Amino acid sequence: MSNKNLQSKGIGSGVIEWIEYRLPIFSSLKHLADYQAPKNLSYAWNFGSLAGLALMIQIITGLFLAMQYTPHVSYAFESVERIMRDVNFGWLLRYAHAVGASMFFIVVYLHIARGLFYGSYKSPREMVWFIGIIIFIAMMATAFMGYVLPWGQMSFWGAKVITNLFSAFPLIGEDIVLWLWGGFSVDNPTLNRFFALHFLLPFVILGIIMIHVWALHVHGSGNPTGVEVKTAKDTIPFHPYYTVKDFFGIGVFFLVFFGFLFYAPNYLGHPDNYIPANPLVTPPHIVPEWYFLPFYAILRSIPDKLMGVLGMFGSLLILFALPWLDRSKVKSGHYRPLFKIFFCLFIITFLILGYIGGQAPEEPYLTIGRICTFWYFAHFLIVLPLVHRYESPEATPNSIDSAYQAKKK
Ligand code: HEM
Repeated sequence: MSNKNLQSKGIGSGVIEWIEYRLPIFSSLKHLADYQAPKNLSYAWNFGSLAGLALMIQIITGLFLAMQYTPHVSYAFESVERIMRDVNFGWLLRYAHAVGASMFFIVVYLHIARGLFYGSYKSPREMVWFIGIIIFIAMMATAFMGYVLPWGQMSFWGAKVITNLFSAFPLIGEDIVLWLWGGFSVDNPTLNRFFALHFLLPFVILGIIMIHVWALHVHGSGNPTGVEVKTAKDTIPFHPYYTVKDFFGIGVFFLVFFGFLFYAPNYLGHPDNYIPANPLVTPPHIVPEWYFLPFYAILRSIPDKLMGVLGMFGSLLILFALPWLDRSKVKSGHYRPLFKIFFCLFIITFLILGYIGGQAPEEPYLTIGRICTFWYFAHFLIVLPLVHRYESPEATPNSIDSAYQAKKK
């Protein structure tokens, strides 16, 4: 940049120029702001940025919690109680972290549901989808280990039940469990390694998110029509249009977040976790956090232990096959009348599974759980590969712009 240009930029521009010449960080930021996005993105496209915000909240609150927490079986429970009672604003930090985890899952579930409805997993965004699933699995592992840290009854027994699942694998199962525990039971080494990994994983997730967004920017965002960007008329700059829209979403996010945080911070948790862990007393119902319940229901609805474990992991891994299972040429569910019905049915099935996961393993819950587990897999393995044969999709618009203009009329 010329000297004259520099002068016209005012105080600080010299420093910016100096840095920019050596590390073009500001022009890179400008490039991000200039990013052209489809002009018809709905609020369903807000959840990605909200998930990023939720992760940042978890990292910041988690960091301050870690400064006061003691990862030892004799002190962990007490150290959390101390955070709640004696540390300045400790209660706020802890509740923000616990409620924040739930908020994170709410927005990520909505983010995934958006993808499922609009066929976001289809070409050319398969990599974005695959990386998303990896993030989701890493999130689940992080949340599971985090829940063990307060060392309450649910922490201990949840850890015991879930780690024990690996014993179902023939030959090496028992050894895997001992290796996970770092001893002969869930004990101090287990708590210590869970703390170390729970601290590390969010940063790994942050790195994977960068790859997620990188992959997204190769072909750009999808949009509700499922028609790709063709001309400049189809797009608008990300800034200010979507930065403003994202800020609106952030406002709504904080309304819900603060609603739980300040009025019902324990609503989404389990009261038994306020009882210190006791390896000699099994709680009447061992239940994981609400966001694991649909998968927990799948695990329990299959009578054989190994098959149950495979079913549970399979219910997640099947998402990787989605780009090949869904054979419809029409990407967006918006134009697919039959698919829409099956999509609603799938969401209802998933919600019922969530409910069943929280109930005791007895009738009628077992039978309902089995029917829903069957339907969960049937949706992916039977419905999605076949439904396009029996439906007549509505005509898709020629371009994003034409759909936009038609909607404006
Ligand atoms: C911490 C978790 C995650 C973060 C921070 C994140 C972030 C983002 C962001 C910022 C976008 C662009 C805005 C948007 O489309 O909403 C995006 C798009 C996308 N994400 Fe994620 N994501 C996360 C998890 C996931 C998961 C679990 C999946 C799927 C299993 C997924 C699949 C996708 C797909 C397919 C798109 C492209 C959608 C399109 O453009 O049509 N993401 N993500």
